[in-house]
Amino acid sequence: MNTYEQEYALSIEHPETFWADKARELDWFKAPEQILSQDENGMDRWFADGEMNTCHMALDAHVAKGRGSQVAVFYDSPVTGIKQQLTYDELLSQVSLFAGALQEQGVVKGDRVLIYMPMIPQAMIAMLATARLGAIHSVVFGGFAANELAVRIDDAQPKVVVSASCGIEVDRVIPYKPLLDDAVDMAEHKPERCVIFQREQVTAAMQAGRDLDWSQLVATAQPADCVTVNGTDPLYILYTSGTTGKPKGVVRDNGGHAVAMKYSMKAVYDMDPGEVFWAASDVGWVVGHSYIVYAPLLAGLSTVLYEGKPVNTPDAGAFWRVVNEYGVKALFSAPTAFRAIRKADPNSEYLKKYDLSCLKTVFLAGERLDPPTYEWLKELLSVPVVDHWWQTETGWAICGNLMGIDPKPCKAGSSTLPSPGFNVQILDEAGTPLGPNEQGSVAIKRPLPPSCLPTIWGNFERFQNGYLSTFDGYYVSGDGGYRDEDGYVFIMGRTDDVINVAGHRLSTGEMEEVLAAHPAVAECTVIGVADELKGQLPLGLVILKDGETMSEDELQAELVERVRNQIGAVASFKKALVVERLPKTRSGKILRKLLRQIADGETYNVPSTIDDPASLPEIADVLALHGYKKAN
Ligand code: COA
Ligand code: AMP
Repeated sequence: MNTYEQEYALSIEHPETFWADKARELDWFKAPEQILSQDENGMDRWFADGEMNTCHMALDAHVAKGRGSQVAVFYDSPVTGIKQQLTYDELLSQVSLFAGALQEQGVVKGDRVLIYMPMIPQAMIAMLATARLGAIHSVVFGGFAANELAVRIDDAQPKVVVSASCGIEVDRVIPYKPLLDDAVDMAEHKPERCVIFQREQVTAAMQAGRDLDWSQLVATAQPADCVTVNGTDPLYILYTSGTTGKPKGVVRDNGGHAVAMKYSMKAVYDMDPGEVFWAASDVGWVVGHSYIVYAPLLAGLSTVLYEGKPVNTPDAGAFWRVVNEYGVKALFSAPTAFRAIRKADPNSEYLKKYDLSCLKTVFLAGERLDPPTYEWLKELLSVPVVDHWWQTETGWAICGNLMGIDPKPCKAGSSTLPSPGFNVQILDEAGTPLGPNEQGSVAIKRPLPPSCLPTIWGNFERFQNGYLSTFDGYYVSGDGGYRDEDGYVFIMGRTDDVINVAGHRLSTGEMEEVLAAHPAVAECTVIGVADELKGQLPLGLVILKDGETMSEDELQAELVERVRNQIGAVASFKKALVVERLPKTRSGKILRKLLRQIADGETYNVPSTIDDPASLPEIADVLALHGYKKAN
């Protein structure tokens, strides 16, 4: 076994040899000979001439090798009381049938299938069935509102939408179908078919001619075989927040993704075939795509699909129960989930009820793992607690601690070292690499390793402008940070207008657009302020139009409702304050970072480019009056 240093050096100095070797562990129809090449945009592409199918690698190949009777998925749904196990045999048969059903509806290679579903096995089945046909899925998180869904329908232009009659939150059932109907009405692109899985809790009304019932379709469908795709053909589009209102469709290709997923399952997570892995996330996010669905199956593991929360479904012992019940070896979630557990069960009474000796490691991502949560968790569980940093764009950890190769000591606040293939550099504003402990922009020197996005769906220019053109030869992550004297990476937060709320990535720009459209609002901004539970929460600061008499409470209620209806409850937008002025640069740019620093009580420097310095004490007073800290 290599040391971390050997493994990493090989991946950077000889990337083609390194990844060709990893690719051999998968079951290709035709093994790739072209390992790294460039596409028409000049982007690095992996395994272009390899022929394959991701669903085949994840299911058929295991069944063929005798893994058919092993559990592929443990579905555990405290919100409905349902527990269900699907073996590889059963999952393959259900996926093949649903693929057949989609095929009957005309879905062919390259078509898009949009999936808007809660955490039920049918969501996974729909993803894998789409992949089986060589089509491209785009899963939209259930917590997004109709308007967000409409934007994604217009961008991805799906032939078919797959949805369910409802999702279930702690205290309420959320009918999905009316949201889908509204979204289709709003969108310019109209999908030909909507396939609806009817759940017991809600029976959705169906539109004749367009809507089809999942169960009826499957009852008469013929199983479909895998369609061959090339390594560089897209597997999925996953929308993520950028700095503007329009979400970015991150494209993931088949070959690089499969190779990186399979490799990471052992290298990063130390998981071997037959073991149980649980990513407590949602299939609507990248963590769910990679580590609930694809990576565990590609590696022949059993994955847990959990439809519940860390607390209140029914209590703060839910995570410990699931770990114990299924023999989970590694648990992956966001720090916010553990902060919620600590808050609800400060003395860890629930933990005492369960034997957790199966649990070997806890992995965290989605937001920075704050040192207090890290220390608490480490002491509580007496297993390594590993922070690892990644993004929708990469699909797997850019930095982490290779538990399956050569574990290093963890340091609080750090996501340890770059993963093999990621040449991580800290750059100053001119693009010059910085030395130890100097903070700058965290960038990755190209070529990007397998699984990283080759483009934004339908818009390479946006990819180039947003990520590649700032520093020649580098991908900029949008995060700021530094490396210490041991090379450990510390990610300190976004350098753009993206915020992280309960591990969910959201755009303040998008919320600003919603606020600005209110008739009483003259000007506004949204900043992310520190929150003990969710990491960050959005806060709106608005200037009223002259002569506007609306009260602050009334306006806040309307703005909160608008963000909830247009973006979704998941934005957790609950607060908007009226201010007289907003600090800006002379060129008119609102100084959002400065506002956030004031709200968080951090020491700040007033930039020399500020137009109206007198606005600062005024804003600081308003923020302090509402309980936000006031520094300087
Ligand atoms: N469908 C519909 N609504 C949803 C939803 C879904 N799939 N997911 C969340 N929502 C709603 C919630 O009900 C909540 O609504 P409310 O404002 O009426 O209470 C709102 O969106 C915010 O949801 P959430 O951020 O999940 O907050 P919460 O207070 O319900 O729970 C945590 C807080 C910390 C327990 C929860 O965020 C959590 O478990 N996070 C884990 C992080 C995670 O999965 N990250 C993914 C990357 S690893
Ligand atoms: P997403 O694309 O939703 O996975 O969000 C990616 C962003 O979340 C990153 O750019 C970071 O800002 C943040 N993030 C994810 N994981 C970590 C981590 N371990 N430490 C710090 N920030 C993180």
